[in-house]
Amino acid sequence: MSRLVIVSNRTPSTGPAAGGLAVALRKTLAERDGFWFGWSGKLSEQPPREARFEEVDGLTVGKIDLTRQDHHAYYAGFSNSILWPAFHLRLDLTTFDGQWYEGYRRVNTRFAEALRPHLKPDDVIWVHDYHLIPLAAELRRLGARNRIGFYLHIPFPVADTLFAIPHHLELMRDLSHYDLVGMQAQRDIVAFNEFADHQAPLSLSGDPLKAVDFSKTIVEAFPIGSDPDAFARLAVSPAANKMVRRMQRAMDEQRLILGVDRLDYSKGLPQRVEAYEKLLANNPQLRRGVHLLQIAPPSRDTIKEYQHHSDQLDAMCGHVMGRFAEPDWQPLTYVKRAYGQPSLAGLYRMARIGLVTPLRDGMNLVAHEYVGSQNPEDPGVLVLSRFAGAAEIFEDALQVNPFDTDETAEAMRMGLSMPLEERRARWEGLMRAARTHSVDNWAARFLDRLGAMAGRARQRNASKGGMPTIARDVLHLGSGTEQPSAPA
Ligand code: F6P
Repeated sequence: MSRLVIVSNRTPSTGPAAGGLAVALRKTLAERDGFWFGWSGKLSEQPPREARFEEVDGLTVGKIDLTRQDHHAYYAGFSNSILWPAFHLRLDLTTFDGQWYEGYRRVNTRFAEALRPHLKPDDVIWVHDYHLIPLAAELRRLGARNRIGFYLHIPFPVADTLFAIPHHLELMRDLSHYDLVGMQAQRDIVAFNEFADHQAPLSLSGDPLKAVDFSKTIVEAFPIGSDPDAFARLAVSPAANKMVRRMQRAMDEQRLILGVDRLDYSKGLPQRVEAYEKLLANNPQLRRGVHLLQIAPPSRDTIKEYQHHSDQLDAMCGHVMGRFAEPDWQPLTYVKRAYGQPSLAGLYRMARIGLVTPLRDGMNLVAHEYVGSQNPEDPGVLVLSRFAGAAEIFEDALQVNPFDTDETAEAMRMGLSMPLEERRARWEGLMRAARTHSVDNWAARFLDRLGAMAGRARQRNASKGGMPTIARDVLHLGSGTEQPSAPA
């Protein structure tokens, strides 16, 4: 059986697995032969060209160090001050610096050069996320003929926004070097098609000009999930119960409204706090009877947009406290710290409302974890942004437009007064969906699809001596994303 090589910016050793990607992929690799490859988390003046390999929690992990300058241009710069905000439709929060793209490409080249000597011909390579879009092109340049898949964990932007990203055409060309590109949701595929259609201007003869040839690349939605049954077990574990007992002492009879998000402007936290303020303002009878707990571990805090956002949220939480708190009651608790999965599972289970209201999100695994952690006899209610990828899966959530804080406030009120029977019926639907889209099924679907492309990859490589058959100077994007496979 082929080995699996997972490549991502962060590796399992670079800190607590706060985000969904790390949690999901650890499990996938633990069940297969292969290794993980990525940045070590270390910066040095003259990083060695070669990767070093270590065992981390039973996984083999290959790592490279980066220079401070390269890392800044690649991570805080091009990835998180251009691609992240633009892909989340926040062009207003982008910063363009001409040197960052060079650094981004340089790091991708470094990744490819350090990884290439460790590849066997039959390895299946699975590259993750927006930091590493050019990696397949770099590996192909070094002669790698492997099947290479890419998974985008964040949303794909609409065409007009994509056009505003510097070097967007090179990025799209880079994507065409993958055999399989996975995205979170159908709406991402629609956005990709929208780009495809707009990127085919008419030539003088009236035919669309060809620019990037995606005929060898399949682009499909593979919605990621969690392990809902593991969360169900975790939510009643001794570690979870410890957190629950702590909270019960503090909460008394109040019902818990819970948000758990990285401190990121895409998560809609200011809008959420405003919605909660409206809930309390419009429903005085709820005061002293509810409590909002917002957990928000800081993230990317060297970037000034993240610092502004953090300050803004501090001020908003302070404002709501000042408006509604009494000497013996606080309307909310805002915790800027990460908690482990057992504690979170206990909190999810306690929460009458799981508030997941990003302005835009690839999937949002907190929604999945909240569903998995519920008590089937007395489940809570998921209030979910319709702009999270999860909205395509969780039809039984109370779906809201997070920009409309009146609507979110009303959804919270409905959730708090929802009869048990309706809560159970909705939760059963949600849990069915969470199981269907579990992380295991996600990885298996993606890897089966990539594995099934072996014939095509071999055919292409045989005919071109390892070089991809991409029309590099002109671009054609067909109207559909899934092209028929070339005959083997
Ligand atoms: O959601 C996208 C993502 O890159 C996740 O894959 C990751 O876990 C999270 O953001 C955290 O981001 P960073 O690695 O920048 O802290």
